[in-house]
Amino acid sequence: MAGTAPNSPTRQPRTVDNPLPHVLPEGQNAAPLEVMGSTASDKVVVIMVGLPATGKTHIAKRICRFLSFFHDIPAQIFNVGDYRRKLCGTQMPAEFYNPDNPEGLKARMMACDAALADLVEYIKQDGVRVAAFDATNTTFQRRQHIIKVLNQQGIRSKKIFIESICDSSTILDDNIRNVKLNTPDYRDVDPEEAVDDFKLRRANYEKVYEPLSERDGSYIKIINSKQYIVNAIRGYLPLKIVHFVMNLHTLGRTFYLTRHGQSEYNLLGKIGGDSGLTPAGTEYARRLAQFAKEQIIHKDGVERPCRLWTSTLRRTKQTAQFIEHNKFEHMWDNGEKFEWIQLRRQERRNLDELYAGTCDGMTYKEIEEVFPEEFARRQDDKLAYRYPRGESYMDVTLRLEPLAQEMERTREPVLVVGHQGILRILYAYFMGLDRKEAPYVSIPLNNVIELTPHAYGCHEKRYCLMMKEEMLNDGQDEPVTSMPEKGQAPPGVTKRDSSVMAENMIFAATDPIMNAPSC
Ligand code: F6P
Repeated sequence: MAGTAPNSPTRQPRTVDNPLPHVLPEGQNAAPLEVMGSTASDKVVVIMVGLPATGKTHIAKRICRFLSFFHDIPAQIFNVGDYRRKLCGTQMPAEFYNPDNPEGLKARMMACDAALADLVEYIKQDGVRVAAFDATNTTFQRRQHIIKVLNQQGIRSKKIFIESICDSSTILDDNIRNVKLNTPDYRDVDPEEAVDDFKLRRANYEKVYEPLSERDGSYIKIINSKQYIVNAIRGYLPLKIVHFVMNLHTLGRTFYLTRHGQSEYNLLGKIGGDSGLTPAGTEYARRLAQFAKEQIIHKDGVERPCRLWTSTLRRTKQTAQFIEHNKFEHMWDNGEKFEWIQLRRQERRNLDELYAGTCDGMTYKEIEEVFPEEFARRQDDKLAYRYPRGESYMDVTLRLEPLAQEMERTREPVLVVGHQGILRILYAYFMGLDRKEAPYVSIPLNNVIELTPHAYGCHEKRYCLMMKEEMLNDGQDEPVTSMPEKGQAPPGVTKRDSSVMAENMIFAATDPIMNAPSC
């Protein structure tokens, strides 16, 4: 009974007289324009400013990541330190950075100009794009030089300075020890020696440091990730960057991502729906509560405030049902005191699973039989494919943009109890994956993924709370919880009659969830 889903493009009635159709540029799966980041029309050059170890690279990287992943805007970082290392070698002593050392000054200027030349080539290319020039740029003269070069090269794009000021000695020490000492500049150097050298290097920059002021033009000044001064910044994309930057901080914190426990629909191989948990799913919920108690809320023996987000669907709320909620006094950084409810559950609609529209509640096998063209189209381009009357991964990416900003903003650990499609996007964003890879990321049931973002990337650890064998104790066949990849059906797997679940075995054999190494 092959057919076409209502609203599918192939079901257009013959009577429609449309000799001049609006054809989307990239074929049948092309996304409508609003999910393509097309609202931005300007190129932007972001120029970082600040003393060493104030989080400039972290900020520049986050901006580029955010714009390229969520807004599909090409964005690239040009780190002068990388050019300096290539030109002069890695381990230069603090004296190299002394402003009274003419040789050091000359070499650093060469590195600056080499990075700038590449930035110019990059930003000159067609289309909206963002380039971040990552260096200390601590003198007015240096900043003027950069602007002059850009203007001479005919770069008409908007230029905004982002200055990071950090005078908290604890944060600085933290930055130096956790970030700087891990760079090639201090590889194999005794840590105490390295800290002393880095402080001397910083002091050299301090001698000539001129903070941004009105004469610099458009800028945002970030003071201790708490106060912000915005000067003369206008335009959709520049203000989008300002908004994002105001959500950022460089303090360490951890995210815990987990799917809901096994749902009744998982067991049947059905996608979507709003089913409750199976007994195995409920057992996972119990183990998750224990995990939260033992691994999340306590650090160094002390209870810390943590957040818990679920979707609005039953299976995630039930997965969070056994989590305990202590109360204790907590103080915000604005001095306000209030009662913190530990892991208080917040439901977020944008965490709801990718909506499969007309296919909601069907198995992949049923979709393939009933809507073969839809099935094939999804296999061709899983990122852009939009279910009839439903969503695509691109749609989901767009609705997760504000949530990702919330995650950037939070300073407490966050436990996200979500769904496969949703967590794939969040994971891909933080792990630096291309958006095209996101729909295929393995997010197994029964695992907690711990993500710890840091200045140069994101550290990942996975905890398997329930073994594959325990899942199958109910005597049922393995659930199918992920769209099979094209041409991946293993040879020799034969269909079994009548039972939909049995037919879906062909998919289960390649399902990364059931084949995850830790389970
Ligand atoms: O099968 C579980 C599920 O969360 C479905 O509800 C959802 O449609 C699907 O995973 C998303 O995975 P895929 O994009 O591989 O179809």
